[in-house]
Parts: sequence; structure tokens; C-alpha cells
Amino acid sequence: MAYSNIVAETKGAVGIIRLDRPKALNALCAELFKELAEALDIFEADEDIGAIVITGSDRAFAAGADILEMQPQTYMDVYKSDFLSGGPERISTCRKPVIAAVAGYALGGGCELAMMCDFILAADNAQFGQPEIKLGTIPGLGGTQRLTRFVGKSKAMEMCLTGRMMGAEEAERAGLVSRIVPLDGLMDEAVKVAGEIAKLSKPIVMMAKESVNKAYETTLREGIMFERRIFHSTFSTEDQKEGMSAFAEKRTPEFKNR
Ligand code: CAA
Repeated sequence: MAYSNIVAETKGAVGIIRLDRPKALNALCAELFKELAEALDIFEADEDIGAIVITGSDRAFAAGADILEMQPQTYMDVYKSDFLSGGPERISTCRKPVIAAVAGYALGGGCELAMMCDFILAADNAQFGQPEIKLGTIPGLGGTQRLTRFVGKSKAMEMCLTGRMMGAEEAERAGLVSRIVPLDGLMDEAVKVAGEIAKLSKPIVMMAKESVNKAYETTLREGIMFERRIFHSTFSTEDQKEGMSAFAEKRTPEFKNR
């Protein structure tokens, strides 16, 4: 499918979406959000795709929502259109695993987009930040909420109140990113990890994702009960039988996704 602001392609069972608006450091304009949501819909519906990687360029994952597009908008405009609700949040409703491969700037909406993904692999040149305060506004795509859950109140508050950027090492120390990868190996590593996930049982992978995500939505007691019941339910699948039989028989499992 041809897009103007992203490039979507597949590598085996991995769907790759590259944000591709270089003249504006991949600033997230309405059209880009629309194309991103469309590409995710297509990968989500494609039974052959087991995991998705979202990336940008070496210089910028995305430098935020498009400031020039927002600049003329009034309160009534953004309120009535419910600006940033729906399509821009599409990653967070994806049932398949989504990995953010972040190089360069991930600022404002770019940082928020990366945080909607299931985990972030960061290139050594990655820079994360919520600089909206410098524009006289605040994060609007979940930044104050997700960043606080990932890195804790003190660091999230400092970043949202000052707009300062955090480099890859600080982001890894703070728990925002899962790992740092050298810039020139970032995409290879992201596609490799996504490919490994895609080889596993797709429904069980979805269940694991749902269960980890529950930790952000509920109490510990409720979350553990949710996990326990999902764990029990995996025993009703052919893939759990196959996985454990293969271990006992010292062979590689062949998951059938059922
Ligand atoms: N929106 C629109 N255009 C943007 C942009 C953005 N968020 N970020 C960068 N650009 C454009 C610049 O205007 C510039 O365009 P021109 O060449 O036509 O002038 C081009 O991208 C390159 O940018 P710079 O020349 O500024 O590059 P730099 O290397 O000097 O600086 C930067 C890079 C520090 C990222 C700087 O561009 C910057 O501060 N960008 C804005 C970052 C920001 O404030 N993001 C938050 C946006 S608000 C938001 O995201 C709300 C929300 O929660 C959803």
C-alpha cells in the first residue's frame, strides 16, 4: 500500500512501519496518524504477521505532534474534534506485539507514541522528552500518565515541567527502554526480536501481552487473579500441549496458533 508519510513493509512474519516525514523530523501530522492507524489495521488483520516494529529515521523517531498544524487551532476546534483521540491512540489498542525501535528524537507525541508500544529498543543516539511545556501546553497523548508509570513521579515530573531531554542511557536506567542497541544495528535487532516473538504461539503471545498490560490498569490482587485465570486458560489450547510435549520430547515446538 502506498502512503505519503510512512513506509509499511513486511519481513517474514514481521510488519514494519517506518515514519517517513523527514522534512519535519517525522512530526506527527493528521495524515501521518491516519496512515499509521491504517497500516496497523492491515497488519493486525493479517494472520501471517506475528509482531510489528515501528521506527523512524536515524535522526528522529518523531519530534512530536505537528506544531504548525496545531498552532491555528482553537479550544473549540480541538474539543469538538476530540483532537488526539481515536486514530492517534491506535497503537495502544493493538493486540499483536508492537516494538518501538527508536533512534534520534522521540519528543512530545513521538515519545508518547513510543510509550504506547509494548517495549522500546533504543539506539545509542536516542533522546526522549516531553517538551510541550515550552510551547505553553502539556502532553496530550498520554505522556504525563505513561511516563510517570515507567520512570516514576520524580523524573516524569522533572521532564514534563522542564521539557529536558533524556538520553538513551538514562532512559534505560530509568526503565523507559528495554535495551540500548548501537544505531547501525537497531533495525536488525528489532526485526530479529520481533521475528522471534512471531515464531511463538500468536494467541498465547496476545494473552501474555494482555496480562502484562493489566498491571497498569488494576490492583495487584486483581492483576494476579487475571494472570492466574489466563494462565489456566492456556491449558485449553493446542499450543500449550504442543509446547510442553515438545519440551518433554526434546524437540522444537510447532505452534498451530490454536
Ligand atoms: N512540528 C512541526 N515541525 C517540526 C517539529 C514539530 N513537532 N519538529 C521539528 N519540526 C521541523 C522544523 O520546523 C524544521 O522545519 P524547517 O526545516 O521547515 O524549518 C525541521 O523539522 C527540522 O527541525 P529543526 O531545524 O528545528 O532541527 P534541529 O535539529 O535544530 O532541532 C528539535 C531538532 C530539537 C527536535 C527541534 O526541531 C524541536 O524542538 N522540535 C519541536 C519538538 C517539540 O516541541 N515537540 C512537541 C510537540 S507538541 C506535542 O507533541 C503534543 C502532544 O503531546 C501530542
